[in-house]
Amino acid sequence: MSEHDERTFVMVKPDGVQRGLIGDVVSRFEQRGLKLVGAKFMQIDEDLAHEHYGEHEGKPFFEGLVEFITSGPVFAMVWEGADATRQVRKMMGETDPADSAPGTIRGDFGLDLGHNVIHGSDHEDEGANEREIALFFDEDELVDWDLDAASWVY
Ligand code: TYD
Ligand code: MG
Repeated sequence: MSEHDERTFVMVKPDGVQRGLIGDVVSRFEQRGLKLVGAKFMQIDEDLAHEHYGEHEGKPFFEGLVEFITSGPVFAMVWEGADATRQVRKMMGETDPADSAPGTIRGDFGLDLGHNVIHGSDHEDEGANEREIALFFDEDELVDWDLDAASWVY
């Protein structure tokens, strides 16, 4: 990992998995030049949902959010690159798909505020990326490798 690189936590939420959007989401980050260093298809349980979304505990949408995120499998990932957390958030769009520009993931695929296809660590919350990565992945599930696309083409 180069000194300017950063890792961030991303996941395709249950609505995105059900709609077959895993590939589209992965493809966007690949094409952008970010490097995938970890991924798993998994089911979030009640405890992990509470921990992951702890900052929203007590808010009116919290119980619905936990119910949604535990309603079916998610595709959890770690992506690496320069300023990765902020760049992923830009590519995601706004929290509400209705406010998200076309060309962003939520702007192109999101249905409503609750069902917005993707999660990405908050770049305004210092250390959220590292906390979320540690919550979902063991250190030995993350792969340190060199992304060198140019070496494979003429
Ligand atoms: P939040 O962390 O504010 O948004 P983001 O996912 O962009 O970081 O909220 C977490 C999720 O909670 C959000 O993706 C969708 C859901 N949510 C609601 O259902 N209603 C709301 O009013 C808000 C703010 C969020
Ligand atoms: Mg958030």
